Amino acid sequence: MHDTLHSTPLKTGDKTIDAEHDLQMQLLSSLSQSLANGGDFSPTRYVLEQFIEFSDMHFLSEQLVMRLHAYPGYEAHLEEHTRLMKKVRDIRESIVCGEKTPSLQLIQELRDWLINHIATKDVAFGEFLRKKEGLTS
Ligand SMILES: [Fe+2]
Ligand SMILES: [Fe+2]
Repeated sequence: MHDTLHSTPLKTGDKTIDAEHDLQMQLLSSLSQSLANGGDFSPTRYVLEQFIEFSDMHFLSEQLVMRLHAYPGYEAHLEEHTRLMKKVRDIRESIVCGEKTPSLQLIQELRDWLINHIATKDVAFGEFLRKKEGLTS
């Protein structure tokens, strides 16, 4: 696995989407930081909840813009969002059940996954949006 801890995701060119991606990355950094600090687990859980809430909102708003523009890649994109949120909810589930605390490795995997999603699927959607705007302006 390559080290993506300090890399920033590629830009989609859409200011709102890019700002939301920055926040997603910051929340994942806080999560790693909180885990690395050890000790009381409640701060980690709090950040995880924030990440879930914010990512739900971000994914829904991306999907809304896609539907608004009749984006042909919508279904495949939606599937990736759903898969990520399932993974994150599984992590939360295991915490709630007291099974284990998530490993730093797991958070790193989430981060890699998200960066990959942004660099491919989200950037492709950004290009689609720009092309469309170019046609109408
Ligand atoms: Fe995104
Ligand atoms: Fe996306």
